[in-house]
Amino acid sequence: MKVESIWDKPQSHGEILKKIWKHLDLGVLEREHPFHTPVLGTVAGGCTPSLRVVVLRRFWRRPPALAFHTHFSAPKIKEIQSNPNISFAFYHPQKKFQLRVKGKATIHTDGDELHEEQWLATEFFSRRCYVGEAPSQISKKAVSGLPEEIVDRAPNKEESEAGKANFVVVSSTIDSIDCLELDVKGNRRSLFTWKENGEFATDWLTP
Ligand SMILES: Cc1cc2nc3c(=O)[nH]c(=O)nc-3n(C[C@H](O)[C@H](O)[C@H](O)COP(=O)(O)O)c2cc1C
Repeated sequence: MKVESIWDKPQSHGEILKKIWKHLDLGVLEREHPFHTPVLGTVAGGCTPSLRVVVLRRFWRRPPALAFHTHFSAPKIKEIQSNPNISFAFYHPQKKFQLRVKGKATIHTDGDELHEEQWLATEFFSRRCYVGEAPSQISKKAVSGLPEEIVDRAPNKEESEAGKANFVVVSSTIDSIDCLELDVKGNRRSLFTWKENGEFATDWLTP
């Protein structure tokens, strides 16, 4: 049986980037897509890496950028405020490729246009996270952080509005993408680096 390989057909950086863009688009749109939940890395306390999963909410191609939602009082916000350099790691287990994306984050709070757009696009059920307690606080007992009255239902519109000031959108430039494609005939690794003027440089790396 012939095993399909990425090396069997000629492929350019342009074609690899097209594949990357397609899967980032799908990652935003499809809950089951593996790119829907990347690992986000921030720098904590000036030097320690801090990793967690977030949901990919937006992807823009020109200029390339990504965004996720979070609670204003989440520790990652303080980390980003003191150091906006962030990374995302994505892996597609069926297509067998990994992306390591580096960028600079911007925090969008209440009153900002992107904040308004994303708040309106957020279902009432998902708004619960922002009505409740801020994440990562020490508690004497196990708690959901949700107000008692909305533990087993979605808040109505009015109740959900209490979360608006806690809701933040974090967007990030895409400054570089390191793409590793796994393959039976040998892996392939490509690097895309964006310049200030929106143009990008390409390189091949040893995997
Ligand atoms: C599947 C999944 C999706 C998640 N999505 C988000 C998200 O979009 N935003 C977020 O702030 N936390 C999300 N979390 C929770 C974070 O991983 C993390 O536990 C929380 O945000 C606290 O992180 P921090 O203390 O570093 O701020 C998600 C967790 C999982 C398992």
